[in-house]
Amino acid sequence: MTEASNAVPRTVLRGARLIDARGDHGVHDLWLAAGTVEGVDLDGSADLEVDAHGLVATPAFLDPHVHLRVPGQEEKEDLVTGLGAAVAGGFGTVVSMANTSPTVDDPAIVADLVAHAARLGLARLRPAAALSVGLAGERLADYAALQAAGAVMITDDGIPVADAHLQRRACEYAAELGLVVQTHSEEPSLRQGGVMHEGRVSHELGLPGNPAEAEAVMLYRDGMIARMTGCRVHLAHVSSELGMRAVEALKELGAPVTVEVTPHHLTLTDEALRAFDPVFKVAPPLREASDVAYLIDALNRGVVDCLGTDHAPHTRAEKDRDLLEAPFGLPNIEVAFPLLYTRLVATGQVTLARLLDLMQAGPARVMGWTEPTLEAGMPADVVLLDLDAEAPVDPAAFASKAKFSPWAGEVLKGWPRATLVGGRVAYERPR
Ligand code: DOR
Repeated sequence: MTEASNAVPRTVLRGARLIDARGDHGVHDLWLAAGTVEGVDLDGSADLEVDAHGLVATPAFLDPHVHLRVPGQEEKEDLVTGLGAAVAGGFGTVVSMANTSPTVDDPAIVADLVAHAARLGLARLRPAAALSVGLAGERLADYAALQAAGAVMITDDGIPVADAHLQRRACEYAAELGLVVQTHSEEPSLRQGGVMHEGRVSHELGLPGNPAEAEAVMLYRDGMIARMTGCRVHLAHVSSELGMRAVEALKELGAPVTVEVTPHHLTLTDEALRAFDPVFKVAPPLREASDVAYLIDALNRGVVDCLGTDHAPHTRAEKDRDLLEAPFGLPNIEVAFPLLYTRLVATGQVTLARLLDLMQAGPARVMGWTEPTLEAGMPADVVLLDLDAEAPVDPAAFASKAKFSPWAGEVLKGWPRATLVGGRVAYERPR
């Protein structure tokens, strides 16, 4: 692929199988112009011709939950590597978390993030802002000012909000502004110092456990507060059967909640901790096989609203520490689609349409954004997927600074071949 000029090139994706929320439209030429979708099978000349035969063209993915570590933790990730990792994973838009250093509780930081990201030509960045000043769980941040600067979500993600009254006031304030509040639902005094899921494996290994009940009770509290305040509350990274059952009860009660699951909670279990490898240390923790099965079932029953990666890069040195000392979190945004396509779609457990919905229209609905399609006039944010080519996960080749992966070496198919954002090629997979 070569581009003729610096202006947004008029581009044709030749012979792509077009799939979007409206269905599978078969093989066509998809034309993009001036940063938007122009139409299919048009005539005329293109500045950029892309041979997309054998590839699926579909709206670029949206991720409501990534850690980009800016400002202040650039040794873990920065905007170039984090947003570069996003487009390598086929994502065109991401919501960044506020647990940075300093935290994103200042409108000037939000404005800087938005301005810096816009210059990069990678994924679109929509920052979340802190729920409490400094993520200290004591005083509400100034949501109106943060929203005016560009914040699209309120969350202390990474740190549960221990004080239920503070959570209530946060929801009342956010509801007035139409902002989504995202929770990190783990009841701190029940979670204690757990470093992995509490169950047979943690008992056998003698490691401090974090019970699924800590997640379930906090989800119930957070959902109840959503219901009493009318605030749209997004329940992040629900990991357990007990947690998902709490979400189902909340939805039945009419609580305005949405729920997200992660690629790792859909594909890994606490058995992975047997080698004491901190790569698998994540919060909430990897659960049991029965939990994974329940999450997949909930996903197929339509309970789950979207996928969120919770891409959480750390340095190799931090992750090389003892399991008890190492930080929680793992990088996954570059493998999210191929991982779930290979493990869930290719095995017949989930349809491709459902997986795409969870990564496109689903997160858009959660955020209150227009659902992405390939209709004329929509932003030209498109990913080209090669559903057949197989390749192993190679962390050394990640755009992310976190060059390790729970799935290192695993052969996956469904790799993004290219990602276009606003009609420009933001990523092309090296051959
Ligand atoms: O494992 C996690 N890591 N879970 C979180 O909620 C936060 C994240 C991080 O910031 O590293």
